[in-house]
Amino acid sequence: MPASIPPDHGLEPIESASVDELRALQLRRLQWSVRHAYENVEHYRKAFEAAEVHPDDITDLADLARLPFTSKATLRENYPFGMFAVPREQVVRVHASSGTTGRPTVVGYTRNDLDLWATVVARSIRAAGGRPGDILHNAYGYGLFTGGLGAHGGAEKLGCTVVPVSGGMTERQVQLIADFRPDLIMVTPSYMLNIIDEMERQGLDPRASSLRVGIFGAEPWTNEMRVAMEQRLDMHAVDIYGLSEIIGPGVAQECVETKDGLHVWEDHFYPEIIDPVTGEVLPDGEEGELVLTSLTKEAMPVIRYRTRDLTRLLPGTARPMRRIEKITGRTDDMIILRGVNLFPTQIEELVLQVPALTPHFQCVLTRAGNMDELTVTIERAEHATSAEAAAAADHVRQLVKRTIGVTVDVEVKEPFEIERSVGKMRRIVDRRPPRS
Ligand code: DLL
Repeated sequence: MPASIPPDHGLEPIESASVDELRALQLRRLQWSVRHAYENVEHYRKAFEAAEVHPDDITDLADLARLPFTSKATLRENYPFGMFAVPREQVVRVHASSGTTGRPTVVGYTRNDLDLWATVVARSIRAAGGRPGDILHNAYGYGLFTGGLGAHGGAEKLGCTVVPVSGGMTERQVQLIADFRPDLIMVTPSYMLNIIDEMERQGLDPRASSLRVGIFGAEPWTNEMRVAMEQRLDMHAVDIYGLSEIIGPGVAQECVETKDGLHVWEDHFYPEIIDPVTGEVLPDGEEGELVLTSLTKEAMPVIRYRTRDLTRLLPGTARPMRRIEKITGRTDDMIILRGVNLFPTQIEELVLQVPALTPHFQCVLTRAGNMDELTVTIERAEHATSAEAAAAADHVRQLVKRTIGVTVDVEVKEPFEIERSVGKMRRIVDRRPPRS
């Protein structure tokens, strides 16, 4: 059993407010944010005018649906600083998303924005079971990526002792965990797996580590992965969500006592779910694309940002704020194989049912003639023989066919043969030639 979580004496008043109070606050803040964007960012003024809406028209939260969406392309078109709503001199920090193609997207923060960010991350760490005085090992990458510095600011604000390790140098990560005895770790789930492997390689028992809670995010991971990690590490594993365009980590967080999805910190970020094809707003409970609007950000207000992340909105439980279900995947990571839609998270759920294989896998797409083909490459577990691994691969093939309804190839790799990440894992390797 993972260690018990000390009581939480730090709840902010809004974390126990009524839903009515929350909605009233959101409306006031939405009206401010929309006006701030309209008055200070040329893109928003033009986009609102083209849609024939004015900030004065926002008299109800439902009026948000009248405003146009913002996409990653909008941010790219206004590269680098065109989306800022304050003079550049008031922007005390920028971050940028790496972006696999084209220009990166740049985001900016005023001093107040950094304070807001630290507040929501501190709230997230507390909801995860972190407490002032805890030692927190931060293995999210520091730099332009928002993970490292975002987690750092929140952990300091909560009053943790932060170990700013960043990603990489896995041997040293393991040594620092053994020597400093942290209570908490913040890291991507795929890199956590690498750290666990390295602990075992060094002859250490991961279950005996000092860690009480892991706060994992920046990439999709499943409840099956949670069970596997909690088992291997004897600690709580909870999900943190966020994206640079909205602020970074700390947009939504799972509570350790419920582990039932992530509460969106709705007093600062307003969530909607839309049909990704039609753009129509869907009722709570239905799966679609998450759209977020910042309610309090100064440097770069974001109105109706299309995240491309697929999930659904659920009512609050441990907090009054609504939850998002664990992200299934991004619309751009959806593999369409002979008409069947498939996400790497579905493969993860199945792979974790097979003990002779590890959770280190990739989805490799190729094309034979006109047909796309998917090969799932998976490392065998060190304890499994090649024959056991081959039987396991066959089992995964059958599970995919039975539960997802499509035929894939499964190829077993030797331990450590699959590319390892120190941050976000590349789950999809697309080797298809471009269509002529
Ligand atoms: O990944 C911010 C972050 C850092 C979140 C550390 C959590 C922890 P970006 O690099 O802009 O920002 O990538 C944002 O990553 O739209 C999702 O597709 C994905 N993502 C982030 N958190 C989760 C999560 C950071 N918990 C993009 N589950 C998002 C699934 C996630 N996907």
